[in-house]
Order: sequence, then C-alpha cells, then structure tokens
Amino acid sequence: WLWVRNLTFKRRLPGPFAWPVVGNAMQLGQMPHITFSKLAKKYGNVYQIRLGCSDIVVLNGDAAIRQALIQHGTEFAGRPDFVSFRMISGGRSMTFSNYSKQWKMHRRVAQSTLRAFSSANSKTKKAFEQHVAGEAMDLVQIFLRLSVDGRYFNPSHELTVAAANVICALCFGKRYGHDDPEFRTLLGRVNKFGETVGAGSLVDVMPWLQCFPNPVRSVYRNFKNLNEEFFAYVKDKVVQHRDTYDPRVTRDISDAIIGVIEHGKDSTLTLSKDYVEGTVTDLIGAGQDTVSTALHWMLLLLVKYPSIQSKLQEHIDKAVGRDRLPSMEDKKALAYLDAFIYETMRYTSFVPVTIPHSTTSDVTIEGVHIPKDTVVFINQWSVNRDPEKWRDPHVFDPSRFLDENGDLDKDLTNDVMIFSTGKRRCIGEQIAKVEIFLVSAILLHQCSFESHASQDLSLDCSYGLTLKPLHFTITAKLRGKLLGVVS
Ligand code: HEM
Repeated sequence: WLWVRNLTFKRRLPGPFAWPVVGNAMQLGQMPHITFSKLAKKYGNVYQIRLGCSDIVVLNGDAAIRQALIQHGTEFAGRPDFVSFRMISGGRSMTFSNYSKQWKMHRRVAQSTLRAFSSANSKTKKAFEQHVAGEAMDLVQIFLRLSVDGRYFNPSHELTVAAANVICALCFGKRYGHDDPEFRTLLGRVNKFGETVGAGSLVDVMPWLQCFPNPVRSVYRNFKNLNEEFFAYVKDKVVQHRDTYDPRVTRDISDAIIGVIEHGKDSTLTLSKDYVEGTVTDLIGAGQDTVSTALHWMLLLLVKYPSIQSKLQEHIDKAVGRDRLPSMEDKKALAYLDAFIYETMRYTSFVPVTIPHSTTSDVTIEGVHIPKDTVVFINQWSVNRDPEKWRDPHVFDPSRFLDENGDLDKDLTNDVMIFSTGKRRCIGEQIAKVEIFLVSAILLHQCSFESHASQDLSLDCSYGLTLKPLHFTITAKLRGKLLGVVS
C-alpha cells in the first residue's frame, strides 16, 4: 500500500527529474535558496525535490508559505526525524523536536521564561535594555582598541561574543566577557552549527555517505562533537544552579526553568528534569548566532554604503543629541534606523530557509497534495526578494520602508519574513529586535566605520542555517566623546 501511495505522491507533485541515489542534490549549488526560487518559476510555488532518500517539498512565495504555516499551522508544525536533530541539546531540544503535546509544553516554558526576563514588565524590560546597552558600549571600546593607529580588524568574533554575552547573562546571570579563552573557543566552534542543520545539508538525507571516508562524514562527526561540548558547557552551569537553587530568589532563566520543571505546581507539566538543560542550550544556541549575524551584515552594509551611514548618524544626533547614549525610548524618533534594520533583514535574508519542517498529517497547499511526514523547506528568501512584492528587490534601499511623512510603514515591515511564522515562529523575535536596534544605535552614535579603499566589499556569503558574510575588515573612529551607560 505504501508503495502505491508513494507512486501516487510522486506522480501528483510537480518538480524536477530526480536522479537515482542522489536525487537533486547535485543541482542545489552553493546557494540552495536561489536555486529553489528559480525552480519555483518553472514548477510553481509548491514543488517536490528529492535529496538522497528523502522526498522534500519546497514552499516559496508569501501566499503559499502563509497558507501553509498559518491556515494549516498544525499540519506544518512538525520537524523531521533527522539523526543530526537528535544530537542537539542532549536530545532534549524543543527547537528540533517533532510536534507533540510534550513539544507544546516545552515551547510554552521556553517562551514564558524568555518573556519574563526581557519584556514582562517595565522593570525587566529596563534591566534587559541596560544590559544590552552595556554590551554595546563594551563593543565600542573593543572596536576602538582594535582600530588604534588606523588598524583594520575583522568584527565577526567580537559580535558573536557580544550576542552570546547577552543571552548568557539572561540564562546564567553572568556574562563571560571578550577575554575568556574557553568561551571564545566554544563560540568559534558553535558558529559551525548552522552548516549541518541548514536546509539542503546532505548529512541527514544521505546517511549512507557516513560509511565512506568523505567530507560529509567529517561534518557529521564534528557536528556531534560540537553539540556534546556545547551541551556539557551549559549542563555544568545548570547543575551549579540546581545545587544552589533557592525557591525564594529567581536569579535568572536557569533558575526560572528549574522552578517550573522541577518544583512547579502545574500537574499537567510532565517534562523530566533533563529538559532544563535542553531548554537553556536551545536558547543560547538560537540567541547567539542569529543576532551576531544580523549585526555582522549591518556593519558590512554601513561601510559599503557610507552615505547611508552618515544619514543614520545625522538622524541619531538630531533625535538623541551628543550628550547621552540612544535608548529604546528613542525608537519612535529613529524610523530611518528601523528602516535600515528591516532592509538589512529583507535584502540579506540571512536566515534564507527556516529550520526544516515536516507535515503532521496529509494536507493540500495551492492544490498540491502533500502526504503526512513529508520534509518541508520554507524558502523565506523567495518572499523577501519577490519582484511582485518589492520594487527593485535586488537594490539595498532602507527608504522603501518609510512613508511620505518619514514614518515607518508597518504594513511593509510585516511583509519581511525572517523570523518565520505560524506555530514554529521564532520565540526570540522581540529580544532580537531590541538587541539589534540598541546595539546598532549605540555603535553608530559613538563610532564611524570605514573599510580600506582597496577592499572589495562583495556581498558573497557562506550558506547554512544563517548566511554569513565572507571575511572583511573595518576600522572604527570615535565620534565626539566616549559616553557611559546611565543606570
Ligand atoms: C526559531 C529566526 C533570534 C529562539 C527560529 C526560526 C527562525 C528564527 C527562522 C525557525 C522557525 C521555523 O522553523 O519555522 C531568528 C532570527 C533571529 C532570531 C532572524 C535574530 C535576528 C532568536 C533569539 C532567540 C531565538 C534571540 C532566543 C533567545 C528561537 C527558538 C526557536 C527559533 C527557541 C525554535 C522555535 C520552535 O521550533 O518552536 N528563529 N531567530 N531566536 N528561535 Fe529564532
């Protein structure tokens, strides 16, 4: 019966011819999201490809993606049962586990604790913002130090450490600083995480490749090792929290999750205590690579388009003045900075395809029938670069998000798709937006950035769960006097 069903499935779904054994793997190229968009022109927004032994449906374009993830939210809320996914967060990941009652509970715990420590009330909001501002000022000082005597430096690693510090402080009540060698090495390795779990990665769809000595096999082994190392690091901190736990004082997110899972009164919550480590590992992993990649792209675009950088600084100086640092309260008056951030997200689409989904039951999208347990790739890039939606989509132009009064066009910003949508929508969207806004406002207020005239500032990037700019260097100059964060 299964054989007959598979045959029917193959006949019904449009898509390119798939070669035996490898399927369409050799056609993906270096940038699978661009290939997916090209294939959509030929086969429509919903089509099937084959990678190794997996049939995969690719969804493209705003209408098909929203129809799937919102109108059919439950049917598309699954995650595939990939071997690599089981290696993440000690096998207790919420992000990489399939849709189930347990997953719903897990997501609820992660989401509510994250909110409690970043935006639940004006006090936590302020504390979070101050923390981010402190991290931004640390970055300013490090950038200025690295620029002494007009030197140029690669900002990538410092941005990773800054973003990791923010989420570590939320989770452990402690930041690790830019000079901790253990922390820096660990982050350098975790940076490679997205290469394996990004849509189109072959390790899960061609498991037989592991039987031969080849690059895929070593990617797999490295992935396993980095996950074990990262999990051990987090677990050690959670165990210290468990040993010193006091129900009267919630020091940070680790304490809050220990409280809910191990000491909570909700009898419907049936997660075992090893889910605490799993949740914290998920949050640190998700919260670090994405935010630092966003900031990395922004620095590249600021030096590539110096007139946009000057315009942003003019707006910031006018709204904030030169005697204090920008804060979240200035956001309303800084629509052009917001527009720059949305344009960076749209133009780079640095999470081009979401984490792979899978269908939880049979479902039909735009007339195409997709069976239960099909792996689904969601091509966010196709939404952000759709020529029918965006005027000159390949041009970087922040002003497209401003209306005739210079205010942010909220309808248009909602059309940018980078945090996904529906039941698997990113739970860190709000804190990510605060971090990106405040760090960029403070960096621009305090420094001017330049690249060397001889440097070719290409927008080429490496592909994975996030698209990362290739190596480039910048120098920073202090604008006026160095300010401090007022508590
Ligand atoms: C999931 C984007 C920052 C926590 C995701 C997904 C995307 C995404 C595309 C996958 C959704 C899907 O599979 O459909 C981003 C971007 C960020 C960002 C662009 C920054 C600019 C953060 C931060 C945190 C976070 C700061 C937490 C501290 C999560 C979690 C999930 C997730 C836990 C898994 C949700 C689930 O599977 O139910 N994010 N994210 N993210 N994100 Fe983010």
